[in-house]
Amino acid sequence: MKAVRIHQPGGPEGLVYEEAPEPYAGVGDVLVRVHAASFTPGELDWPVTWVDRGGRDRTPVVPAHEVSGVVTAVGYGTTGLRVGDRVYGLTDRHRDGAAAEYLSAEARDLAVLPDTVTHVAAAALAMPGLTAWQALFSHGQLAAGRSVVVHGAGGGVGSVAVQLARDTGAHVIGTDRSSQREVAIEAGVHEFVDLDRHWFDGRADLVFDTVGGDVLARSAAVVRPGGTLVSISAPPPAVSGGRAVYFIVEPDRAQLTELADRVRTGRLRPMVEATYALPDARQAFLAKHNGVPGKIVLKAVDDD
Ligand SMILES: NC(=O)c1ccc[n+]([C@@H]2O[C@H](COP(=O)([O-])OP(=O)(O)OC[C@H]3O[C@@H](n4cnc5c(N)ncnc54)[C@H](OP(=O)(O)O)[C@@H]3O)[C@@H](O)[C@H]2O)c1
Repeated sequence: MKAVRIHQPGGPEGLVYEEAPEPYAGVGDVLVRVHAASFTPGELDWPVTWVDRGGRDRTPVVPAHEVSGVVTAVGYGTTGLRVGDRVYGLTDRHRDGAAAEYLSAEARDLAVLPDTVTHVAAAALAMPGLTAWQALFSHGQLAAGRSVVVHGAGGGVGSVAVQLARDTGAHVIGTDRSSQREVAIEAGVHEFVDLDRHWFDGRADLVFDTVGGDVLARSAAVVRPGGTLVSISAPPPAVSGGRAVYFIVEPDRAQLTELADRVRTGRLRPMVEATYALPDARQAFLAKHNGVPGKIVLKAVDDD
């Protein structure tokens, strides 16, 4: 099969589109014909990208662990999915990813995708959807009537978080650079704070920070007593009178199913910044590396 691979740890410049062995469906796995894939900023910098679960070098590596496609084979003992199912999800970072024609993944990391949701939308949704869901609801206990600040509201994760929070009945304050204002407003913020010009000096029940750095450092002071600061970029500072949480997103079939159903019914819209054909993956990674915000999707099949 054709795949995008990188032969030694380093940046996107090392990505090559080449012939690679077709993976197989092991115990509990499915083989997926990839239709669309996406990736997360910095994934080539993470130590987990380069080793297997035993810590052994596993280069050459296929990146991109956010996938949408069709099941073509089912491994021994695999339950819950069948050949022909349209599926999407977030796959194990210690294994080869989805920047390829085929991907072998654990079935439990994938969910069935409704017919009306495109593979491009699903690939863009998998990681931001799970991350935003777990930040707002699993860690942040967001509910109707509460207030939430989403830092990076025009980004891949932030724009989904804004939509989920708004749908829940929360009051949503989004912050980002001025260039992301329109995306944040389209996602549904009640208030937008342009971080190029101001800092949000109010208080909120929940602060969800997707930016990190100075924005994260200043966020503890924004949390109301009894509230929560949730960070996904780095461990946050302590919150006086509240909680501070850092977490790594986990695959979850039930949450994927709920997220896809919301897209099907129009309650949620994954925002796709750009699409690239699979052979052009290096350019896609370079664009993200150079700071293009939002989700970039690789198309392995030109069907959406
Ligand atoms: N812990 C986890 O499980 C987990 C899961 C998913 C993602 N992440 C991490 O979360 C971060 C966000 O991911 P993403 O996919 O949403 O990225 P993204 O699409 O690039 O969005 C980040 C947003 O924040 C903005 N931003 C960055 N620095 C800023 C600053 N100093 N001031 C104001 N706005 C700023 C970006 O604008 P500009 O591009 O213009 O700077 C962009 O709109 C990444 O670091 C990613 O690795 C962690």
